[in-house]
Amino acid sequence: MQIYHDIAEWREVRRNIPDNLTIGFVPTMGNLHLGHGALVSKSTCENDITVASIFINRMQFNQVDDYNNYPRTLDKDIELLEKIGVNYCLIPNEQEMYHDDYRFQIHETEFSKKLEGEFRPGHFNGVLSVVMKFFNLVKPHRSYFGEKDYQQYQLIKDMCDAYFMDIEVKSLETIREASGLAYSSRNNRLTVVEKQIAEQYASIFLTCHTCEETMQKLQEIGIHVDYIQDYNHRRYIAVKIGDVRLIDNKKI
Ligand code: PAJ
Repeated sequence: MQIYHDIAEWREVRRNIPDNLTIGFVPTMGNLHLGHGALVSKSTCENDITVASIFINRMQFNQVDDYNNYPRTLDKDIELLEKIGVNYCLIPNEQEMYHDDYRFQIHETEFSKKLEGEFRPGHFNGVLSVVMKFFNLVKPHRSYFGEKDYQQYQLIKDMCDAYFMDIEVKSLETIREASGLAYSSRNNRLTVVEKQIAEQYASIFLTCHTCEETMQKLQEIGIHVDYIQDYNHRRYIAVKIGDVRLIDNKKI
């Protein structure tokens, strides 16, 4: 696996990849787990070349603490990507990625204001802007996203459609621990007791049939719910356990 920190160097490499090879791309913020692993494996199966990126995108964090506390495990991440068969890993620095000082942004005006967008103002501007930059740097044929962040996947897919981008935006099902709790980089910040509560939350979310029932059961065990809402045949939830905010969704 070749690692590029320097954007100019990577662009030179990209220019020299022959047109007949297909490229799959998996963007990440690192602290990789089995969910990320599944996306990368899918890409290596479906494409000649797989590119991954590790970039903790400050612009999508609406809270400084969340950005500062985001787990950073670069050496382990690189090891994992190499093992799964990634060809190129991009790890750019913020100055180079945002040499425009975030002057140019992608704004979506409808769906990005709902659900996560309502609770995290500016979050999806940051996500869409950085993904647009990476898409232009990698020029992939296919790109892979987890259903875990379904709203993000849908917005990225819609962005590619709106801007006539020839990228197949694919989604993969959420990978869960045995308890049902979705793998998430933020799980690492839960204490042992909080982790047990998170497992209970996941099982309630996955088994209850209505929002009302879910809400009631979560409140009974003292879990704070930011939102639980059905939208387009999917149920979305965000909860806070201690300092850690967790999101999930499922098809209904
Ligand atoms: P990150 O949280 O690192 O997630 C990278 C990708 O892994 C996303 O597509 C996410 O949906 C997927 N993923 C996370 N947990 C998963 C799980 N349990 N099962 C399946 N897939 C999972 O999402 C981001 O980074 C950023 O917003 C990014 C798109 C990289 C832009 O900065």
